[in-house]
Amino acid sequence: MYSFAVNSSAAIPWNELREQARLATTTSYAPYSNVKVGACAITTDGRFVVGANVENASYGLTLCAECSLVSDLARVGGGRLLAISIVAGDGKPIAPCGRCRQVLFEHGGSDLMVDAGDDADPTSLLELLPGAFGPADLDIRKSR
Ligand code: THU
Repeated sequence: MYSFAVNSSAAIPWNELREQARLATTTSYAPYSNVKVGACAITTDGRFVVGANVENASYGLTLCAECSLVSDLARVGGGRLLAISIVAGDGKPIAPCGRCRQVLFEHGGSDLMVDAGDDADPTSLLELLPGAFGPADLDIRKSR
């Protein structure tokens, strides 16, 4: 686990996040697609978490890098994600798939900053997943 002091989004260490995401691609298990994906995020309290995709012979049970990263987040004590970089093996950013946008929403919310497009500035999860369904939508619908 890495650590870095972050007090505001202006201090997001994008270069470090991208480099750690690229390093994480070397731990990817992608014998079927051969698309190695790595992800690195920083939490609101300055911890770095990482993940890589883990494919499966069934194809459909493949775990994306972001899912693996969220498992790492839980493993190191949980908390909220502030910013994430997702890259392919060449170190270039790639966009999170739809399922991963939902998974990331649970742990970072609309304010999560995502470095997801080559030649594109980091953007918020609000832009990538507008009108998201989340924990708040459950609370108001619970019945006895
Ligand atoms: N992949 C990810 O790890 N994250 C994404 O957001 C998009 C896709 C992986 C899944 C699969 O192992 C490979 O990329 C090709 O789809």
